[in-house]
Amino acid sequence: MAKIIAVANQKGGVTKTTSTFNISAALAMKGKRVLMVDMDSQASLTISAGLEPLEVKYTVCDILEKASKPIEECIIKIEHIENLSIIPSIIDLAVLETELLSRPAREKILARALNQVDKDFDYIIIDCPPQLSILTMNGLAAADEVIIPVKTDYLAYRGLTQLKDTIEDIRLYVNEKIKVVGVIAALYEMQIVEDKEILAKLESEYNVIGVIKRAAVAKKGIYDGLPVVMQYSKSNIAKEYLNIADMIIKSAYERSEEI
Ligand SMILES: Nc1ncnc2c1ncn2[C@@H]1O[C@H](COP(=O)(O)OP(=O)(O)O)[C@@H](O)[C@H]1O
Ligand SMILES: [Mg+2]
Repeated sequence: MAKIIAVANQKGGVTKTTSTFNISAALAMKGKRVLMVDMDSQASLTISAGLEPLEVKYTVCDILEKASKPIEECIIKIEHIENLSIIPSIIDLAVLETELLSRPAREKILARALNQVDKDFDYIIIDCPPQLSILTMNGLAAADEVIIPVKTDYLAYRGLTQLKDTIEDIRLYVNEKIKVVGVIAALYEMQIVEDKEILAKLESEYNVIGVIKRAAVAKKGIYDGLPVVMQYSKSNIAKEYLNIADMIIKSAYERSEEI
């Protein structure tokens, strides 16, 4: 049975996609069979993984739409990263989203489909879009665990309340097993006082499982379809993501301070 983890935050630009790709690749490097699901119509994860959304045969749309294809046909193996596969996305997902609203049990469509491939993977990591939309609901409804990347600024910190409420609703009405396992404090700038203050607040109220500094290295490998954990495995950012992968494997979400 695969463990399903949603990477979610209704804000954009908080490193959901970067974190999904790096954590997934880190798990794959450690020998785990990993499937990533791109639930964002901007297809950033698909592109980051080196795929061209318009050139792939099937996407997550083919799973979510009414006349759906078998999920197995929508999974693409990422050739340059062993053990890693993806269900890609495409801009059409934005249109499909409105159609989804008229379907019964619309929050559970992804969860049902993922059930079919549960035994083929150790982990399924879902990159959610930047809204609390039906697509994010589908990601959360399928998930055993949620990881929340958040920027170390005040408004981002405040935005977490709304996300927590949504997850609470999902737990009550759709998916009682869902659990927020940790927050990633992202784009952290240690020389900025506000960032330090917000990091301290996050650490006192949430389980911070990673602190990802703002650094140019995070953007490098993108044209080659390579995540930081593979291209700059000695960098501080890579170490944080590799450490998160270890926590996932151990199912023990505790960050040691030495990193
Ligand atoms: N540690 C980092 N330092 C600097 N830039 C980063 C870092 N991590 C991600 N980025 C960049 O920040 C932007 C937003 O990241 P992304 O993962 O796309 O966020 P989201 O999926 O939440 O919208 C992207 O341009 C990405 O390349
Ligand atoms: Mg994204």
